[in-house]
Amino acid sequence: MSKETVLVLGSSGQIGTDLVHALRNIYGNDNVIAADLKAQPIAIGQAGPFEFIDVLDAVKISETINKYKVTQVYLLAALLSATAEQKIKSAWRLNMEGLFNLLEIAREQKHLKIFWPSSIAVFGPTTPRQNTPQYTVMEPSTVYGISKLAGERWCEYYHQKFAVDVRSIRYPGLISYKADPGGGTTDYAVAIYHEALKAGSYQCYLKSDTRMPMMYMPDAIRGTLELMHADAAKIKIRSSYNLSAIDFTPAEIAASIQTHLPAFSISYAPDVRQAIADSWPQSINDAEARNHWGWQHEYDLNKMTADMLQHLAILKK
Ligand code: NAD
Ligand code: SER
Repeated sequence: MSKETVLVLGSSGQIGTDLVHALRNIYGNDNVIAADLKAQPIAIGQAGPFEFIDVLDAVKISETINKYKVTQVYLLAALLSATAEQKIKSAWRLNMEGLFNLLEIAREQKHLKIFWPSSIAVFGPTTPRQNTPQYTVMEPSTVYGISKLAGERWCEYYHQKFAVDVRSIRYPGLISYKADPGGGTTDYAVAIYHEALKAGSYQCYLKSDTRMPMMYMPDAIRGTLELMHADAAKIKIRSSYNLSAIDFTPAEIAASIQTHLPAFSISYAPDVRQAIADSWPQSINDAEARNHWGWQHEYDLNKMTADMLQHLAILKK
């Protein structure tokens, strides 16, 4: 393998914390540069280079790519669905301009390989909600979803017009224990594990029967790396791939937790996030990802619950 140097923009968040760790295991600590507006979590920050970079600063991104002779960039900085509804203008600016800056740099520097995550939020209330296919009606009703759909179109455009090697996944809600989620509608599925161990109960901001597509972080990280390592000829979709693992409701995740913690209880007080959840798919069809580059998920709900509770119990000691 030729020498690869990787830059992760927005590395201190939920995905970045796990992704930087995985990338450093593959490429070596010194060859993965973490970058964010806020400091890296201590365990990861000490293991390799870190730069304070605002993704709205195209000059700084370009200088950093040149300084480290970067060959791959993962762009994770964004405002997620719930926060973006509170900060419409800054969400649009961050989610669009950050991507645009990077696509422009990649247009000039032909050797760069780019990863940019999209989301199930690209779908909207007029999309078929069960087993949502790759190609379907897409009329998102959130600022986050609108920015992700526009971003997908720009990724495909830069690939077709300028041969930029950009790859993308429409992540479902991601569940992890290393870092807290950053303001999404699916965050309850992380908080519920923390509260189950801490308080023995959880008040959910979604109704008990709100089914949503979800994925455990180890599957998401492996899928991301498999997409980035696949031969370019296998990547036939340059907007963004549907990717599926599990789907469940708050009542079902609570029942899964109760198999380990029988006294755990859940109550429901739906808030503004209910409308966002109701506009998104309940389950995803990811046939293209499975056929094109061999995606397979590993974790189902109960396997994820066992792993989450085990790791969180260790961290809380
Ligand atoms: P997060 O909110 O946990 O992390 C985002 C990071 O970006 C934070 O550390 C933040 O400090 C940083 N950031 C914000 N503004 C910045 C700026 N101007 N310059 C540099 N850094 C900045 O988000 P995440 O969950 O890690 O998500 C990463 C990406 O994956 C986002 O594009 C998100 O839309 C997408 N995604 C996430 C999920 C999920 O469930 N976590 C699902 C679908 C898509
Ligand atoms: N987990 C993300 C959110 O809820 C989905 O993109 O915003």
